[in-house]
Amino acid sequence: MAGATIAVASDHAGFDLKELLKRDLQQAGHDVLDLGTNSTESVDYPDFGKAMADAIGTGKAGRGVLVCGTGIGISIAANRNPKVRAALVHDVTSARLSREHNDANVVAFGSRLIGTEAAREALKVFLATKFEGGRHIGRVAKLSKD
Ligand code: RB5
Repeated sequence: MAGATIAVASDHAGFDLKELLKRDLQQAGHDVLDLGTNSTESVDYPDFGKAMADAIGTGKAGRGVLVCGTGIGISIAANRNPKVRAALVHDVTSARLSREHNDANVVAFGSRLIGTEAAREALKVFLATKFEGGRHIGRVAKLSKD
């Protein structure tokens, strides 16, 4: 895996699931960088998507986990950095394909849409699955072009 550290970030809506996934990652022995938020007090998801983008963009983290209510806003925010490929994932299949085809380096979940166990399983699959390469290499490279 590129870079050992896994960053996690959420807004208030994603806080509880972010904490749960963070605990799972720590228990699995990963080095976790928590970018906040730190409570269920209302915050703005773009700030945490940007914090993730900065962590991935600077190489402080090699992988990231984002959570907001839908996963949509926080993944849009993170994807503004061309070094980020944040995939909004709903199940283990989308988690696997986001790695195999898109070489996603960040996974995003919608805490109000996905079940807790589905998110936990999807995260495991996301981290365990390798990029397939081949025909996908040129396509993924185009994602980082201006
Ligand atoms: C917060 O209410 C909600 O809008 C946010 O968590 C997220 O779903 C935005 O995309």
